[in-house]
Amino acid sequence: MAKQEDTFKKVISHAKEYGYIFGSSEIYDGLSAVYDYGQNGAELKKNIREYWWKSMVQMHQNIVGLDASIFMHPTTWKASGHVDAFNDPLIDNKDSKKRYRADVLIEDHAEKILQKANKEIAKAKKRFGDTFNEEEFVTTNPRVIKYLAENKAILARMGSSLEKEDLADVKLLIEELGISDPDTGSKNWTDVRQFNLMFGTKLGASAETATDLYLRPETAQGIFVNFLNVQKTGRMKVPFGIAQTGKAFRNEIVARQFIFRMREFEQMEMQFFVRPGEEMKSYEYWKETRLKWHLSLGLGEENYRFHDHDKLAHYANAAADIEFNFPFGFKELEGIHSRTDFDLKAHEEFSGKKLKYYDNEISESYTPYVVETSVGLDRMFLAVFSKSLKEEKLEDGSSRTVLKLPAVLAPTKAAIFPLVKKDGLPELAKEIVADLKFDFNVLYDEKDAVGKRYRRQDANGTPFCITVDHESLETKTVTIRDRDTMEQERVAIADLGRILEEKTSFKTWLAKL
Ligand code: GAP
Repeated sequence: MAKQEDTFKKVISHAKEYGYIFGSSEIYDGLSAVYDYGQNGAELKKNIREYWWKSMVQMHQNIVGLDASIFMHPTTWKASGHVDAFNDPLIDNKDSKKRYRADVLIEDHAEKILQKANKEIAKAKKRFGDTFNEEEFVTTNPRVIKYLAENKAILARMGSSLEKEDLADVKLLIEELGISDPDTGSKNWTDVRQFNLMFGTKLGASAETATDLYLRPETAQGIFVNFLNVQKTGRMKVPFGIAQTGKAFRNEIVARQFIFRMREFEQMEMQFFVRPGEEMKSYEYWKETRLKWHLSLGLGEENYRFHDHDKLAHYANAAADIEFNFPFGFKELEGIHSRTDFDLKAHEEFSGKKLKYYDNEISESYTPYVVETSVGLDRMFLAVFSKSLKEEKLEDGSSRTVLKLPAVLAPTKAAIFPLVKKDGLPELAKEIVADLKFDFNVLYDEKDAVGKRYRRQDANGTPFCITVDHESLETKTVTIRDRDTMEQERVAIADLGRILEEKTSFKTWLAKL
């Protein structure tokens, strides 16, 4: 646990030191769970967004984009169910006065039990080596069977109690499991209560005439209310998708884990509209497709897992999370939901406007079913950033801090150095910058010894360093150093654009999907 905390602290301080993330309005002591992205953070975030957008919109002929507004007619949120049901079950500890999400306390407890089972499996794997049969072990070892059953029973009971709104039983479960305040160990709990997460605001000049509005808690509803606008003007045929990225706001009560849970954050969502009855096929397709997208970034297959929901949101008939191994353990990164026709039907009912689709192929009019993929951009940022940050011991006994960001996402693709600040080397290095800058985000650096400059770019996440030396003047060649292998190669200046394109472009990375 202490190691996890240390790793997480390093991630946070590195993000600040290298201009990735700052606390919001820090000079006024900040605002809890609100963050600003610095010069490098803004670039990394933009690149993640673009990688997602291109993989959805550009790579699929039947998915188009949308940019809906944050403010929406207040009835939207009545129809979507957010006014009545977008709640978190909260519990307070009477001694510490700290507030927690009751479901998170229970899920964390269940996760600890699951970890016990995983530990037994890992131990046995080590003991039996190549002859180990995991499937057999999991189904026959009494301790593992007990842990897995316990984990399942806890989550099932919580899911059913929350679904039935039986908050008294949620409290009882916390007491029966002996869950204590993670900070103080106290078990002196209040009852569990529901708390609505939407932020309210007002539209209008005077208090009397103002309309109550909400800041959108998800981008999805902007897609639903525009479903027919896009379908008709784009002449889209079911199945088709609408993708959108944008800010969402939630008054999160437990907002501790840096940019993992924020009050203002960005979502990247896609609603895929299908014929009723075809949603499960599409749901499975999008589960696999989205996992592939994550894996394409090369952060390690072992860091992802699916978690199928026992407790379904009010709109879903199936739901799964792609969980990621964050510095504080496996947590939700992306949600894939089969949302049925709930949203379109509800908007039809509340607006009185038809939101049906006429399917020429079967000569039938129906309300499409929807499969949604929804990933938090900030959570993606944390996943990529935290897994890329490494402390490496080198052969000569020294160590280096290196941010091994996937090259396609790195804020700066290459740093160009003159070996020394004289003899015409800076001029040639600047010429290279002037040529590459149209296609790549590159920077020029002449300060300090070249070794120090390499280290600076390693920590910054820059995948390539290009050094101009005296030989460059004669042969029109430079050295290019790979951040991850630290190997250097001499290449023609004329080839630099092609090399960077091959290694860092969206085209190269998207082609692997
Ligand atoms: N439209 C469906 C929806 O909003 P969700 O599971 O509530 O579903 C989707 O959110 C994704 O948005 C999550 O998987 C997570 O990545 C991100 N997300 C949700 N709340 C967040 C928060 N408070 N801070 C950062 N990201 C958040």
